[in-house]
Amino acid sequence: MNVIKMNNLTKYYGKNTGVENVNLSVSKGDIFGFIGPNGAGKSTTIRMLLQLTYPTSGSVELFGLPLHKERPSLRRKIGSLSSEVHYYKEMTGKQILQFTAKSHGLSLQETPVYEYAERFQFDMNKKVKSFSLGNRKKLGILQGLLHEPELLILDEPTSGLDPLMQQSFFQLLNELNHHGVTIFFSTHVLSEVEKLCNRVAFIKSGKLLETSHMTEVKGMNERVIEVTFTEPGDKRKKFGLADIDPYAAFTQGVHYITVRGRLHEALQRIVQYPITDISIHKPTLEQLFMQHYDQKESDGDSR
Ligand SMILES: Nc1ncnc2c1ncn2[C@@H]1O[C@H](COP(=O)(O)OP(=O)(O)OP(=O)(O)O)[C@@H](O)[C@H]1O
Ligand SMILES: [Mg+2]
Repeated sequence: MNVIKMNNLTKYYGKNTGVENVNLSVSKGDIFGFIGPNGAGKSTTIRMLLQLTYPTSGSVELFGLPLHKERPSLRRKIGSLSSEVHYYKEMTGKQILQFTAKSHGLSLQETPVYEYAERFQFDMNKKVKSFSLGNRKKLGILQGLLHEPELLILDEPTSGLDPLMQQSFFQLLNELNHHGVTIFFSTHVLSEVEKLCNRVAFIKSGKLLETSHMTEVKGMNERVIEVTFTEPGDKRKKFGLADIDPYAAFTQGVHYITVRGRLHEALQRIVQYPITDISIHKPTLEQLFMQHYDQKESDGDSR
């Protein structure tokens, strides 16, 4: 069952494109990473899912229901965090959380908020005006989670959190997902997407470039060879490395060659020349993702 379905979702800000013709489905039980560079359209997409802004065209269905009609009945099922959160500065964290709980018909004691606050070392008795960026983020996260929703839609939930807190938070997402919560979140922390998510989508310049199952991404038969030849300088041309990988890169003395299958052949070619260092590894999601962008861009340039 699709918990989120976006149909040709498009948003223009005047002449600027927010996103264009995004078609994306999130299934029940998915933990779905939504990644892309600054200005790609992640927040625009998420803001439309949360009805903080409206599509120029296209539509969204949540739990099989068209968003514009059914939103009130869905509210209880969805937990959200938008990238910018603003609060009344004179209130304490606890007062804000009480208010949020009440809006879902709950008292704070009925929610897991105390447990979460402890996990995130969040002091809810302080006034918001004294909060650091990280504390404001934690408050936003607690607000989004306290009613134990079935679906989480989160825009960069870990930005502003220190690495330890990021880890605790991703751990919590993992636990919630194991208990059946569907999660759709944007992030720039690609290493976590790689570890946590079963699906991932890449967006750039408002266009969805690719949606993959993590197993497909991980199972890609690609290896990155990092090699330093004894003879100094860029050897891509001279040693025919571009024949192996037309997108081979050369930075700070190291050649980066991506090989799809035929590793044996590639190595035979490389070791014809004296080398001082070599390592072979699977590409990280970040490398796959950057390569993907580079290739699309150079394909576009050559047209
Ligand atoms: N309120 C707005 N008015 C005009 N243009 C906007 C507005 N909000 C976003 N945009 C534009 O829409 C595009 C997508 O922006 P968006 O904020 O969705 O990107 P993002 O992927 O969330 O980026 P980041 O990683 O920096 O958060 C950008 O070109 C941005 O300038
Ligand atoms: Mg954003």
